[in-house]
Amino acid sequence: ADGPMTDGFGRRVEYLRISVTDKCNLRCVYCMPEEGLPWLKREQLLSYEEIAEIVRVMGGMGLRRIRITGGEPLVRRDLPALVRMIRAVPQIDDVALSTNAVLLHDLADELRDAGVDRVNVSLDSLRPDRIDAISRRAGSAEAIFRGLEAAERAGFGPIKVNCVVMRGRNDDEVADFAAITRERPWHIRFIEVMPTGENLGVSADEFVGSDEILERIGEIGTLRPVTGPAGNGPARYYAFDGAAGTIGVITPMSHNYCDRCNRMRLTADGQLRPCLFGDMQTNLRDPLRRGEPLEPLVRHTLGIKPERHWLVQGSDAGSGGLLALSQVGG
Ligand code: GTP
Ligand code: 5AD
Ligand code: SF4
Repeated sequence: ADGPMTDGFGRRVEYLRISVTDKCNLRCVYCMPEEGLPWLKREQLLSYEEIAEIVRVMGGMGLRRIRITGGEPLVRRDLPALVRMIRAVPQIDDVALSTNAVLLHDLADELRDAGVDRVNVSLDSLRPDRIDAISRRAGSAEAIFRGLEAAERAGFGPIKVNCVVMRGRNDDEVADFAAITRERPWHIRFIEVMPTGENLGVSADEFVGSDEILERIGEIGTLRPVTGPAGNGPARYYAFDGAAGTIGVITPMSHNYCDRCNRMRLTADGQLRPCLFGDMQTNLRDPLRRGEPLEPLVRHTLGIKPERHWLVQGSDAGSGGLLALSQVGG
């Protein structure tokens, strides 16, 4: 069907991931160098009003779902105000948030009231010392666990946990993570690490593929494929019999899912990106500030959405165009 937001390969694109900042209060080894990155300047950032205008234009073209990301979205001031503005766009029926949860404790209720339906939280270990080591910030673990508790209490939809698996850093915890789903209604997704621009803190031999992850979990119980919680992402889900939650795998490297891609990305400085990878992007910010129409630019970007990315295990970030996920809205 040639809907208004169908790309050149027949994929319906109804989902936009909006990065509201490239900054972060952590320095996860697979994402950012210890010293940070050259941050965008304030005037380069889209204002909330500008973001809302882009959502209104794309809503009229068929956009239905939004995810707010970063960097770490909660480091941007008054995020609930943006959520309310997005919620006011009538076509948008799902607003989700991806966060490291460090600041979630104090914001969960307000975000829920503002209209966030669901949150995905990054959690790469269950051990505080390892969380601190992987995120390179001492004391982050305590804040993250409090953030998760607040999220559970605030009444969001299904809570999803993202765990990037790395050999020698956290791969021995895969079964422990999975076991949590027997009691708690969490959806724990194991992510294969991708060679993005600045994740040189993780070497190729730390890669762990989903087949190995599922095999290790299989040692503590039988996993059955399930539909999984509501969502728009690429995870494939499994569950133990009678479990409260599910186990997902996100497999950018071992099992490419680009044929199901349904999304574009908006960077914090207003570049519309048809793909996580590559250097294709369309500047929406400057035309917007000049008062020019955005719809042709959105349509053009949809038209150049590539069929897939060609990363393979063992490739590195040197090939150009691969930005840190904090810069493109992980
Ligand atoms: P829901 O399924 O709606 O909950 O969202 P999601 O899983 O897409 O969102 P989340 O922000 O939690 O992303 C989880 C992981 O999916 C990210 O870390 C990426 O590794 C991966 N991912 C999301 N979108 C893409 C994409 O367009 N391309 C690739 N290669 N990976 C993606
Ligand atoms: N590979 C895989 N996942 C990554 N994320 C950030 N960088 C990478 C990478 N290089 C994940 C974070 C977060 C999600 C939005 O993106 O862990 O959960
Ligand atoms: Fe921050 Fe997320 Fe990158 Fe970690 S993965 S440094 S929490 S943006």
